[in-house]
Amino acid sequence: MLYSQMSKEQLIAEQQDLQAAYQAFQQKKLCLDMSRGKPGADQLDLSNEILNAVAAPNYKTENGTDARNYGGLDGIDEMKRLFSEIFGMPAEDIIIGENSSLHMMFDAIAQAVSRGLGGERPWATLEHVKFLCPAPGYDRHFGVTEYFGIENITVPMTETGPDMDIVEELVKDPMVKGIWCVPKYSNPDGITYSDETVRRMAALQPAAKDFRIMWDNAYIVHHLYGKDEPLLCLYTECKKRGTEDMVLMFASTSKITHPGSGVAAMAASNKNIALIKKRMSYQTIGPDKVNQLRHARMFKNLADVQAHMEKHAKLMRPKFETVLTALDSRLAPRGIGRWHRPNGGYFISYYAPHGCAKRIVQLCKDAGLTLTPAGATYPYGKDPDDSNIRIAPTYPPVSELQTAMELFCIAARLAAIEKLLS
Ligand SMILES: Cc1ncc(COP(=O)(O)O)c(C=O)c1O
Repeated sequence: MLYSQMSKEQLIAEQQDLQAAYQAFQQKKLCLDMSRGKPGADQLDLSNEILNAVAAPNYKTENGTDARNYGGLDGIDEMKRLFSEIFGMPAEDIIIGENSSLHMMFDAIAQAVSRGLGGERPWATLEHVKFLCPAPGYDRHFGVTEYFGIENITVPMTETGPDMDIVEELVKDPMVKGIWCVPKYSNPDGITYSDETVRRMAALQPAAKDFRIMWDNAYIVHHLYGKDEPLLCLYTECKKRGTEDMVLMFASTSKITHPGSGVAAMAASNKNIALIKKRMSYQTIGPDKVNQLRHARMFKNLADVQAHMEKHAKLMRPKFETVLTALDSRLAPRGIGRWHRPNGGYFISYYAPHGCAKRIVQLCKDAGLTLTPAGATYPYGKDPDDSNIRIAPTYPPVSELQTAMELFCIAARLAAIEKLLS
């Protein structure tokens, strides 16, 4: 029965049953974690061959470069070719980074802040610089701009991407310098931007000449059901309109091989690539080419990556389905909350009835289940509706996940009843 249709007496009876079940969980002294989007140990094992992919005396790249030595600022040819296929961009528009795309994003923002972009004034010399943050979104994106003292402006996410009416309005402000985007299997909603959203993004005419779209394609090949949810190429759309300098695109192998020792990459216009390479020439004498070579030996082309991702998906599907089955069977019949069924990525976003998210996370914590803090998916950790909770199903084994979701659903029901009775 829907909670909204229950009488006060029925709700109180239901609450008493749930409290008993909740206390039983507390006595189990659980220690469960669904907080961060980390691959499970079985997923890491899929890439173990990479640990031995480069060994003496085979440490030369295909053009004869000794991968052990300095040099090769923007990456080895075979890695550029691989990311060129992944991004659908020419290899000359690509820079291979170190082990983290977030690091590359941080550096790009740091450069804009300290040195400026395209002859515009460094953002550090300006008052009230702002950045658009489609939310719920990735907390670490918001953390980067917050770190640099940039004001994060929340833009609501819709089923088709950021609310573009609002984005188009906000970019008329010359102090709005950019937007964070996770366009495919977004973190945390798992939605892919529609063609219309991508086209409107490409057609933006921001007042700031140094406006940048931070296009973080972290989940570009991370399909759950073997089927790619198509995403229009923003760069191609920008090219048609002459706006390609507005875009910086990022991806990495973090959730393809081993996060922490993967390979990151970015793709951008010639102008942006030249500017970034110039900065890099001061930053480093060359990246970890040995690690690039390991990856290039494991994946000769995109088809190899796709076959590998199917192995990940096989391990991940039961976990996503465990979460969705629990939500469908325990929460849907009570009419509490909503969620999206993602076709890829790493997360499921649960939208609790307004005002319940913090309470759910607290109840879970008190019974031994760690979730991403409520509000973390919004700038400054403030969800105006106190509703969104990011569920990360990949790290715990299925058996733990089942227990965790049982507890989660009890907490969600308790919080919803408390709200209705208050
Ligand atoms: C949207 C998004 N971007 C970037 C990252 C981190 O990527 P990397 O390991 O390449 O820094 C994550 C990790 O969860 C993510 O969800």
